[in-house]
Amino acid sequence: RRREKRITRGNLAVNNAITRPEIDWSKLGFGLTETESMYIAECTIDGQWKVGSIHPYGNISVSPSAAVLNYGQGIFEGMKAFRTPEDEIVTFRPDENAKRFAEGAGRMSMPPVPKDIFEDAVKKVISANRDYVPPVGVGSLYIRPLLIGTGAILGLGPAPSYTFLIYVSPVASYFKGGQLSPIDLIVEEDYHRAAPGGTGSTKCVGNYSPVLKVQLQAKKEGFSDVIYLDAKENKYIEEVSSCNFFVVKGKTIATPALEGTILPGITRKSIIELARDKGYTVEERKVGLDEVLSADECFCTGTAVVVVPVGSVTHRGKKTVFCDGKIGATGQMLYDELTGIQQGRLKDTKGWIEH
Ligand code: COI
Repeated sequence: RRREKRITRGNLAVNNAITRPEIDWSKLGFGLTETESMYIAECTIDGQWKVGSIHPYGNISVSPSAAVLNYGQGIFEGMKAFRTPEDEIVTFRPDENAKRFAEGAGRMSMPPVPKDIFEDAVKKVISANRDYVPPVGVGSLYIRPLLIGTGAILGLGPAPSYTFLIYVSPVASYFKGGQLSPIDLIVEEDYHRAAPGGTGSTKCVGNYSPVLKVQLQAKKEGFSDVIYLDAKENKYIEEVSSCNFFVVKGKTIATPALEGTILPGITRKSIIELARDKGYTVEERKVGLDEVLSADECFCTGTAVVVVPVGSVTHRGKKTVFCDGKIGATGQMLYDELTGIQQGRLKDTKGWIEH
């Protein structure tokens, strides 16, 4: 029988050591585990967002002519809640997700969700699904806010109404090999993820399915994922399908600058700050493929992937292996720092944790 001992800290009700008994936590990956409930709020194009409410998790009903289905008018976020050793449930930089979500809404001509409604929604959905937050150290509760044009429209234009929805799923390692297992990447030269003036820096739904074609082909060939190059010169690194890219050479770390085609990752931003604190020089600029191939080590960052080492990069059939295919010291150190803060094992000197 589940032990019902609930405590309240801050605004989040948390369960003391109660997790879902039917979930085998040792088998947790990044697949969807449906939970009990989700959050929904509605708004019209001219209206104001009102505080939404918790509903049972399940299918939603939308018109076949919903703008999101026809014209891809939709954005999403990715964020995580963690169970700390004290059994508190905390979130990592939710204010940053609120900000990026509002910016994305602007880019896609949708009414932005105000920060207080966004943060309240995140708290409500976590609280309603608190026993799905994995046990300490096992993983996290992945939180997926969506903002979609659900109103019906035929001619091309913004939807007359919108839905702000958040669902959650417990998750662990994104890539199959396990969290710190190095990934093998292949450089893609024919297809591009984003172009200048496009939506590469927006988490809009349409940015993700176009990568599947090359990603699936790469997986067939035994690679974990694909590195995209810039659409103009085909020689600078952009990012991997689902994460940002970093190159380490001595005490210098370089990562592609945010010039409109790169997703402004919150993990990316946090890792840059942590690396600088540890005495590294971090350069945000164009990063040539040649630099990658002569790097000491490379790693990727993202909410879903966290910090994942790159074991090898293959370009035109030539495979370059980093750190003998093992995790590099810099990636390991930054992973430890980041996850230490997120999971409550290290002091949150930066105020990144929301209680
Ligand atoms: C995330 O890292 O949260 C993302 O949204 C990437 C997604 C492809 C899983």
